[in-house]
Amino acid sequence: MAKREQWGTRTGFVLAAVGSAIGLGNIWRFPYMAYDNGGGAFLIPYFFALLTAGIPIIILEFGIGHKYKGSAPLTFFKIFRKWEWLGWWQVFVSFVISIYYVVVISWALNYALLALNLGWGDSPGSFFFAEFLQLSDGPMDLGGIVWPVFLAALLMWFVVWIVLFSGVKRGIELANKIFMPMLFFLLLVMLARAVTLEGAAEGISYLFQPDFSAIWDYSVWAAAYGQIFFTLSICFAIMITYSSYLPEDADINNNGMITAFINCGFSMLAGIMVFGVLGYMASQQGVALDEVVAAGVGLAFVTIPEAINLLPAAKFFGFLFFICLVFAGMSSMISISEAVCSGLMDKFGWPRKGTASILCLVGFVLSLVFMTNGGLFVLDIVDHFINNFGIVFAGLVQVILLSWFFKLDSIRQHTNAQSDFAIGKWWNFCLKVITPIVLGYMAIANLIGDIRVNYEGYDSSALLLFGWIVVVVVVLLGFAMQSLKSNWTDQA
Ligand code: PHE
Repeated sequence: MAKREQWGTRTGFVLAAVGSAIGLGNIWRFPYMAYDNGGGAFLIPYFFALLTAGIPIIILEFGIGHKYKGSAPLTFFKIFRKWEWLGWWQVFVSFVISIYYVVVISWALNYALLALNLGWGDSPGSFFFAEFLQLSDGPMDLGGIVWPVFLAALLMWFVVWIVLFSGVKRGIELANKIFMPMLFFLLLVMLARAVTLEGAAEGISYLFQPDFSAIWDYSVWAAAYGQIFFTLSICFAIMITYSSYLPEDADINNNGMITAFINCGFSMLAGIMVFGVLGYMASQQGVALDEVVAAGVGLAFVTIPEAINLLPAAKFFGFLFFICLVFAGMSSMISISEAVCSGLMDKFGWPRKGTASILCLVGFVLSLVFMTNGGLFVLDIVDHFINNFGIVFAGLVQVILLSWFFKLDSIRQHTNAQSDFAIGKWWNFCLKVITPIVLGYMAIANLIGDIRVNYEGYDSSALLLFGWIVVVVVVLLGFAMQSLKSNWTDQA
């Protein structure tokens, strides 16, 4: 058995973990989520989720990855043979995410180029849906391939392939050492511009103005927990994989906290930037802020281009914004794919180069679905189901198994033994009691909600095909993988 690869430096690891955490989720998802779920009041459940679930789970995942030195499936196998499927479940969830995540990055790359001459014109809304994506009538009408998206996605998969192919130190670590500093620098430039715009203050206060009635609403808590899991890349096999490449004497508790706080700090700054610009737009058009804000995808690809049109030096800042999305997205995309790559390498003893090649090829082919005229609808459905069920359920199962059916304290002792500061019993309490209660409640509420009403009013057949079936297949594949013969039985 070849020796496991390792990070070159501690900074290299932290940058890679932060690179995974900071992604599309921070720049367009966070601002919109906060805005839509009670503004400043969202921050209460958000920080509650960060402190009681986010940080404990990131330390847990860093701890088990480091202690057992394996990708998620191997790590769970070493903990208890029959839990291997849980690792695969997370791996397949990651894989499904990777095949549409890359397509959103491809839109962003196209938009970075379009920005150079404000190619989205005067009405970015109709440009995005009708001209750029040439959207069909619904998810069951895929139509043909949208070529600009295809080309950009091909390039992005190529970059992922090169990086995975080159290994942990010379590929992943190096890519993050380039992407991350650039990303921070660009964000600061845009932030400085945004907060000095006229009307920015109103936009920002809109984002942070608390609507306290919102904290009594269960869906606000669900959104906050969902956002924390998504943004920290936890329960996706990713952080377990990344920490399995740590050297023996690595500090776990501190690295976990640093990763979580840099990520959430970045979200705050991105939120201030985005809402500063929206405040400016509202003041230029003389309308109220809630009239200019759109949801999800629309926020980044419709509202932001509208706002960019009004900015001084529009082309320059437009390019910066979308290039930021590309950098942030790519460092996450690499981590999502590495979680899969590493799982396969461990299981079958395949060499890295071949595994990365097959993975990127298969990933690219499956991504084609999202590059079609109906792609956006499919993406919307897959994203909703994978986030609401894949992550929430896999997270719940992971937390319950590890904290109730395993000696959780052995992990705490392991991480405390080599960290700058020790974590106390509160950690066990968060993982054993608080997180399972909240996640369990969420899981059931989500399930009832989606059975009762068709998500976004889509056809039942489309929801069955791209939603329920995907969610179930991902679990079944986990068990199927567990039943296959592994290369690792000798080392457990
Ligand atoms: N955490 C990253 C983000 O916020 C990327 C990511 C998303 C990773 C979803 C895994 C799953 O975009």
